[in-house]
Amino acid sequence: MKNKSIIKVNLFDRSYPIEIGSSLLNEFNFSELILGNDCLIVTNEVIASIYLDMLINNIKTNNIETLILEDGESTKTEKTWSTIIDKLVDMKANRDTTILALGGGVIGDIAGFAAATYMRGLPFIQIPTSLLAQVDSSVGGKTGINHAKGKNLVGSFYQPIAVVSDIDVLKTLPDREYKCGLAEIIKYGAIYDSDFFVWLEGNISLLLKRDNDALIYAISRSCEIKADIVSQDELETGKRAILNFGHTFAHAIENHIGYGTIFHGEAVAIGMLMASKISLISQPDKERLINLIINSGLPHKLEEFDKNEMLEIMLMDKKIKNKKLRLVLLNKLGDAYIEDNIQNDHIMDAFEKFHQA
Ligand code: NAD
Ligand code: GLY
Repeated sequence: MKNKSIIKVNLFDRSYPIEIGSSLLNEFNFSELILGNDCLIVTNEVIASIYLDMLINNIKTNNIETLILEDGESTKTEKTWSTIIDKLVDMKANRDTTILALGGGVIGDIAGFAAATYMRGLPFIQIPTSLLAQVDSSVGGKTGINHAKGKNLVGSFYQPIAVVSDIDVLKTLPDREYKCGLAEIIKYGAIYDSDFFVWLEGNISLLLKRDNDALIYAISRSCEIKADIVSQDELETGKRAILNFGHTFAHAIENHIGYGTIFHGEAVAIGMLMASKISLISQPDKERLINLIINSGLPHKLEEFDKNEMLEIMLMDKKIKNKKLRLVLLNKLGDAYIEDNIQNDHIMDAFEKFHQA
């Protein structure tokens, strides 16, 4: 175990480091990365009240502007994007101005999209503060906003120049949000690395206690896996889609039950179980996946739901190719594949088997 770790995302001239450790918000040398004199920190009201001063005090040498947005998914809109652009215009920002995204996935996605679009691209640094953002959304360059007709409908692939993940900030993350991050960590073990899955089985209680060493290892290994996949398929023309394991079911569950009633990571946990039901994975391995999800304090059951409505929602999902659903399924723990030829019966079968379990 190490108390610090650096993972590299290898993308030619768009390569960047992911720094993971303690005390990074107040000790990491951000000034080294900020090339010009100006930077804009984009954050939200919750995070600003706890962490903004600490970050500002650490970036002594630059002209620092801040923009504090409202908390929550409802802030990821064109209007807020426009607010960030207006702020950059007011600052007379140019291509040397660096954007720092201090927050969870919402802030990272919208600040990243503003960085991607202002003057066709400003350097930006992800400073993720939720576990989900530290293991997933800050890495890989997906940026964007929601549209009234769909989540993340507008966006672009735009890589940050660095990701700086301070695990100390996770101490203030609400429990339910924290567990949502655990769901994504379990996903990495399930799709890519059976040894990591075994490690998670043995260390889940330490992770639930937010133990520093366990967190650094789990975040680092998750980022390493995501970096490896992204470096093979940055624009999601193929392999990157395996990162969506459980997510097609999850989007339908969130849509059906209600966004905010069930959290995304909770829906992903159930979605992974549904996907496993129609996967080649052995029965003992299916049980290991359920047990790890239960031991993480994530939901593994859903109250009765309307299977036909859920199917309808899934058929509208953007991962449909040639009017057929595609799903990420598991050959075995640590080995995922993409099934292009999913029929409606398969989905119904997954729902039935999920309920019977
Ligand atoms: P979030 O950004 O809304 O954060 C969750 C909640 O936790 C918020 O209320 C936030 O203010 C609070 N919070 C965050 N860090 C905190 C801390 N250290 N202490 C106290 N409170 C804290 O949600 P999220 O789960 O981080 O991210 C979800 C978003 O990420 C969605 O919009 C989703 O579409 C996006 N996402 C993007 C990618 C990608 O690849 N770009 C991947 C997954 C998810
Ligand atoms: N969160 C899935 C991806 O980045 O591709």
